[in-house]
Amino acid sequence: MSDTFDVIVIGGGPGGYVGAIRAAQLGLKTACVENRGTLGGTCLNVGCIPSKALLQSSHLFEEANHSFASHGIKIAKVELDLPSMLGRKDEVVKQLTTGIEFLFKKNKVTYLKGTGRISKAARGAHQVAVKDASGKEAVYTAKYVMIATGSESTPLPGLTIDEQQIVTSTGALKLSKVPKSMVVIGAGVIGLEMGSVWRRLGAEVTVIEFLDVILPPMDGEVRKQMQRILEKQGMKFVLGHKVTKATPGTGGVSLTIEPAKGGAATTMTADVVLVSVGRRPYTQSLGLAEAGVAMDKRGFVTVDQHFQTNIEGIFAIGDVIGGMMLAHKAEDEGVSCAEIMAGHTAHINYDAIASVVYTWPEVAGVGKTEEQLKEKGIGYKTGKFPFTANSRARCNADTDGFVKVLADEKTDQVLGCHIIGPEAGDLIMEVSVAMEMGASSEDIARTCHAHPQLGEAVKEAALNIEKRAIHI
Ligand code: NAI
Repeated sequence: MSDTFDVIVIGGGPGGYVGAIRAAQLGLKTACVENRGTLGGTCLNVGCIPSKALLQSSHLFEEANHSFASHGIKIAKVELDLPSMLGRKDEVVKQLTTGIEFLFKKNKVTYLKGTGRISKAARGAHQVAVKDASGKEAVYTAKYVMIATGSESTPLPGLTIDEQQIVTSTGALKLSKVPKSMVVIGAGVIGLEMGSVWRRLGAEVTVIEFLDVILPPMDGEVRKQMQRILEKQGMKFVLGHKVTKATPGTGGVSLTIEPAKGGAATTMTADVVLVSVGRRPYTQSLGLAEAGVAMDKRGFVTVDQHFQTNIEGIFAIGDVIGGMMLAHKAEDEGVSCAEIMAGHTAHINYDAIASVVYTWPEVAGVGKTEEQLKEKGIGYKTGKFPFTANSRARCNADTDGFVKVLADEKTDQVLGCHIIGPEAGDLIMEVSVAMEMGASSEDIARTCHAHPQLGEAVKEAALNIEKRAIHI
């Protein structure tokens, strides 16, 4: 038996490492177990961060190819240096992951390198066995355990991932050359972001989606306009279809596609196939069943409103408990969970958590969609404003999209906001803050917004709830 801790966090992703730092800040003796070799989890290593690095690089490449001329900038020839682009992405990841190791040292969080497993559930003294890369196992004791093991890509029957020709988002971040053709299975966040990267770099991208719409959880109007914009950019969509088989070969991957509602199968080929049909909780070899930790039928760890499982002192946060599978949701849960362990109270307003899709233009949403409000029978008012009428968007030559603010019909409280447009992910944050404070659309409308800014479109949309926008 080695060390004893107040808290052992299993998983060093954005939920786990942030939770560990917060627990240590609160004076709890904390360790964090991680087996990847680097901290930061899926998000930093093979998710949010490398994809955003490539989205930025590929956006600049596309701008240089297609937009500079309209600004009066002539470039003789734009060339892609893919190894350098991928190398820059790896460097960004390296800087950020090593940064977390520094934060661990600064906050005195013990970094346990290896695979963690709950070896014994015992109230007040749970045991966590950590097996390192050489197979050596050490057992640690903690009053509290925070499970933060995240999620993994959901596999698709009939397809075997090789991360070369049939890839998950991990393989899609390091293709050695730009494929001539790429099929993306699933028109969700990963599919549209990684599909955008490779389309901008020259691939012909076809997205095959099971449902009749793209980005299923987003606001309906946003989804429709986004599809039109992406089609204008050259992305193709086959909606209402599923891929039932994919066979890699020397001439590419041969795919069998069937209508989702049944019907004759067709075939097509692609150099690379990206499987992005969702993620599932990662609880493998964690010893949860043996410890008696309850999970639901989809494999998510079940927790109460304090993130505690059915076993006292064993908590879980982030993707592994379900809900929005977002790094920032996991971070906030990690912080709240640590605060609860330290005897504080904590609460998360899930309605004020924004989701962002980092395509260009970006898509962002917070709170309820119109569809959800209708379904719940909540009366609401809508205020919309297009970026074509925003002076800064005109200056930037980036006028695709709109802002839509939804407010309660009777109280005017902001219930949601949905944006397609330049920097939508940053713009949505003022509405998240407004919602967190229980603000009305009038509050946003009466807040003086700096000019000329994209954010004025949010103010004008809020003004337009009472049909008093100035610039349309
Ligand atoms: P997703 O849940 O966003 O989208 C999956 C899509 O695949 C859905 O539209 C679904 O209808 C479709 N689908 C499912 N089975 C299918 C089939 N057999 N054939 C064709 N289509 C099928 O999942 P995605 O894109 O894999 O992302 C996983 C998670 O990671 C999501 O929860 C997402 O929120 C998160 N993520 C968030 C990012 C962000 O915040 N910007 C970036 C990347 C991922």
